[in-house]
Amino acid sequence: MRIVVANWKMNYCFEDCEKWLESFFEYSSSKYQNLKDLEMVVCPPAVLLDYLDGELMEDGFQFLEKVAKSEGRSLSDFSVEEINNIMFDNRPVKLGGQDCHYENSGSFTGDISAKMLRSVGCNYVILGHSERRVYHKETNSIISQKVKSAVTNSLFPIVCVGENKQFRDQGEHLHIVEKQILDSIPINISYKRLIIAYEPLWSIGTGILPSIDEIDEMTRFIRSIIDERFHSISQETFILYGGSVSSENSKNIMSLDEVNGLLVGKASLDAKEFIDICTS
Ligand code: PGA
Repeated sequence: MRIVVANWKMNYCFEDCEKWLESFFEYSSSKYQNLKDLEMVVCPPAVLLDYLDGELMEDGFQFLEKVAKSEGRSLSDFSVEEINNIMFDNRPVKLGGQDCHYENSGSFTGDISAKMLRSVGCNYVILGHSERRVYHKETNSIISQKVKSAVTNSLFPIVCVGENKQFRDQGEHLHIVEKQILDSIPINISYKRLIIAYEPLWSIGTGILPSIDEIDEMTRFIRSIIDERFHSISQETFILYGGSVSSENSKNIMSLDEVNGLLVGKASLDAKEFIDICTS
């Protein structure tokens, strides 16, 4: 399976989101066969999650009806938790948050918890994105607590790592990424799925793509860390590449052995372009 994540960042109001969905469903229906072995995850601003959850619910509901039929149960036999899990986990487009707090609730003005994300239909959450590390001063240790909270609340964490230009030029990129992985991803919790997104800062939003050899080197290196440190879940650990991904370059990146998917920023704001990336 491959995973392609749309990170809308702080873009789109309600009307833009409606248009995106319309164009997404229109364009994806003709491409459905090519999208089968793919998990598509949309991470909109938090205020749009509930709306998107509602729009995507219908697919989940159809799946729930199928499950009920195959098990000879009526819908009233299912608990609310069971219904949520079946519907959230089985729709073709999954939802994700762009960040979460490490506590479930409390006096943290402006923050959103992993528990809240789950309650509006999220399966995933992006954590430690470089924009959070830089603008919100998030440290590896804070990110590690967030990862723990995400997993406890049945969310799959998408942990972002990546070096800045200075570290790349100094040849320190492998060392920096290794430290980010070791310090921001706790080992003593039971992951069902772990996603690590390699996003070099100098590529995010710049249109500058690392060479294919550079992406290959880093993703192989990340896989070697996973094999060593997260051995028991290495089959369930996915490595994504993110930074200036477009439908022009996605196929080439996805052809690499250790790239299991993509994290797409700007290009994901155009539904058609996002599907072209997914089908590549
Ligand atoms: P970009 O952003 O695709 O616009 O470069 C990627 C990201 O920050 O996740």
